[in-house]
Amino acid sequence: MRTQVAIIGAGPAGLLLSHLLHLNGIESVVLESRTRADIEATIRAGVLEQGTMDILNEAGVGERMRREGAVHHGIELAFGGQRHRIDLTGLTGKAITVYPQHEVIIDLVAARQAAGGQLLFGVRKVAVAGIDTDRPVVSFEHHDVEQKVEADFVIGCDGFHGISRPLIPAAERQVHERIYPFGWFGVLVEAPPSSDELIYAQHQRGFVLISTRSPTVQRLYFQCDPHDRVENWSDDRIWAEFHTRMENGDGWKVKEGRIFQKNIIGMRSFVSTPMQSGRLFLAGDSAHIVPPTGAKGMNLAIADVKLLSRALETFYKKNDTVLLQSYTSDALKRVWRAEFFSWWMTRLLHTFDGASSFDQMIQRAELDNIVSSRALSTALAENYVGAF
Ligand code: APR
Ligand code: PHB
Repeated sequence: MRTQVAIIGAGPAGLLLSHLLHLNGIESVVLESRTRADIEATIRAGVLEQGTMDILNEAGVGERMRREGAVHHGIELAFGGQRHRIDLTGLTGKAITVYPQHEVIIDLVAARQAAGGQLLFGVRKVAVAGIDTDRPVVSFEHHDVEQKVEADFVIGCDGFHGISRPLIPAAERQVHERIYPFGWFGVLVEAPPSSDELIYAQHQRGFVLISTRSPTVQRLYFQCDPHDRVENWSDDRIWAEFHTRMENGDGWKVKEGRIFQKNIIGMRSFVSTPMQSGRLFLAGDSAHIVPPTGAKGMNLAIADVKLLSRALETFYKKNDTVLLQSYTSDALKRVWRAEFFSWWMTRLLHTFDGASSFDQMIQRAELDNIVSSRALSTALAENYVGAF
């Protein structure tokens, strides 16, 4: 096989890149190790920045998102028994849309297939050779047949555990990382929304996020020990934790329902630089991870591929490599701002074992400052909606 761009991984990054390239007349092949059913059903993030929506709309894959996504104009911060609204739209002129990542995946797979795109699921043993030449080759097994695809470029969109990042020579690579001493216990619940807007809550027993997936399915998280096990948490124990952390006696209650999925997510901040070497480029989680507190993961992946598609288009249309050469530094500007915001939101809202009473009072003072200052609320809102 021969193609212009070989893409490893059919997450939001790989699928959208393939589609943006197609819209510019550039051919690609996407290699995905999981099945279509699996990638279309895996529950991940849920918040789209306005800029992400714009990109999906421009790419012609936004129709269902516009129809089924829920536009939110604010979020709430809860602490000290009170809730405080951050008016995202009033402060920034922008909004966010709650539309689950796996729905984005479903829309992108449909668009790629309708356009006759080459999208191979269930590939195994993906390996790459010759990224330091102008004819890199990706080899893999598909339906037990060994195959090779020769390309001009290889793009690693294969997430944090993929094979692409380690292809960048160790001598060139630098990793910046923080692993947090807590995780999120996430549940999917059949219930109506407890709140019209997302609630980020700080409580002595730990952080809570009240999010949503649809009018009938809610996504709730509470801070937990990252080494805990879901088997340790009965439904009753989970609801007791939400009620204790969220309710202050004013009559508002978290709405219960049937819990149909439980999982524990670890939290890390991670950036690997450079995001390119020779003819290999990384996008999305393969190059960087943020803790979910700022809701930035999918938005960053999509911002990366927007830059990459422009850089590849400039290469193919003008034979100009300037945007390819500056890809890492262009992408990292947004990446580091999102890393900062996600780390800051995480620090602001979580309970840290061993925090002194001074640390706790400072955390409360920072929250008080944010909700009482238009300037600080605006800074939070700008970062949250991605207004830059
Ligand atoms: N060969 C082929 N495919 C692979 C390989 C491999 N060796 N390793 C991983 N993959 C696939 C995974 O199965 C997955 O479908 O690459 C895809 C990577 O997708 P994501 O992990 O969703 O990464 P990305 O597209 O960068 O999107 C980032 O995902 O984790 C969330 O919060 C994160 O929302 C953010 C988004
Ligand atoms: C989610 O709905 O899964 C979600 C929303 C906001 C976040 C993180 C996760 O900050």
